[in-house]
Amino acid sequence: MSDKPRVFVTRTIPKAGLDRLREVCEVEVWPKPKPPRRDTLLDKARGCAGLVTMLSDKVDETVLTAAGDDLKVVANYAVGYNNIDVAACREHGVAVGNTPDVLTDATADVAVLLMLAAARSFTPAAASVRDGGWKTWAPMDHLGMELAGKTVGVIGLGRIGRAFADRCHGGWGMKVLYTANSPKPDADRDLGAKHVELPELLANSDFISLHCPLTEATAGLIDANALHQMKTTAVLVNTARGEVIDQDALHTALSGGKIFAAGLDVTTPEPLPTDSPLLELPNCVVLPHIGSATVHARSGMALMAADNVLAGLRGDPLPHGV
Ligand code: DGY
Repeated sequence: MSDKPRVFVTRTIPKAGLDRLREVCEVEVWPKPKPPRRDTLLDKARGCAGLVTMLSDKVDETVLTAAGDDLKVVANYAVGYNNIDVAACREHGVAVGNTPDVLTDATADVAVLLMLAAARSFTPAAASVRDGGWKTWAPMDHLGMELAGKTVGVIGLGRIGRAFADRCHGGWGMKVLYTANSPKPDADRDLGAKHVELPELLANSDFISLHCPLTEATAGLIDANALHQMKTTAVLVNTARGEVIDQDALHTALSGGKIFAAGLDVTTPEPLPTDSPLLELPNCVVLPHIGSATVHARSGMALMAADNVLAGLRGDPLPHGV
């Protein structure tokens, strides 16, 4: 048995990160496409010094207790870390890391992709070509919304929210409203952005994009009441976390014409069951949580997670700690 510290990685991640870990650690990688079941995670965590976890792995008191006293670090392979009980980790003396920045552009791009796809009825339009529904050029079919000069509301102007706002302002000259814990003078100066309260953003935005973390305060933030305050022409985009939206209320709003369309990269649960009523709506585009799914972002995330683990094992502050 090796005397190297043991690290369990809950899914196959890019090789560069695994190679970096293997220089120092005994690494076990969960090889299957689906996450390890809860009992498997508890079993594999036992005696580990480090865990590399995905957003689908819940890391809580039970996992920490199962892992035992050797556990020094949990490196989440994501920028979001709502799957980790950070307070419990602190109590156990376990450092927690994430992977910010490297996925900012990739995720902001997917928000733009969804904004355009939802605004221009991409899903039903493309489907009509494949299924023969498209008979001839039609003056009244698939009429969508334009972006140029419109107002975009960004809920959460952190790194990804800002990159999304930059694209909207630079690409289409959109006016930017945003909510955030405090005003962002850079955004106000560079984009003419305006820090507002949520009701003002909801009522005045043509496009609304969610970029807030999932917390107690943001769970269910976009509920029936919030949807009711939006314009009937509004397009809602979510690349944050599915739980920020009340999906039943969203279905009611989309099917009843209370808002124009939605584009979701994240849902609850993930995957969305194939019989979910949301998937029957022509004005709802749903992607399988691909915000950070570029070669560049995922490779960078792997290296960052590895660096977090290695620092945690040495007892150093994590380079990307939360
Ligand atoms: C994240 O990093 O939090 C994304 O949701 C997944 O890459």
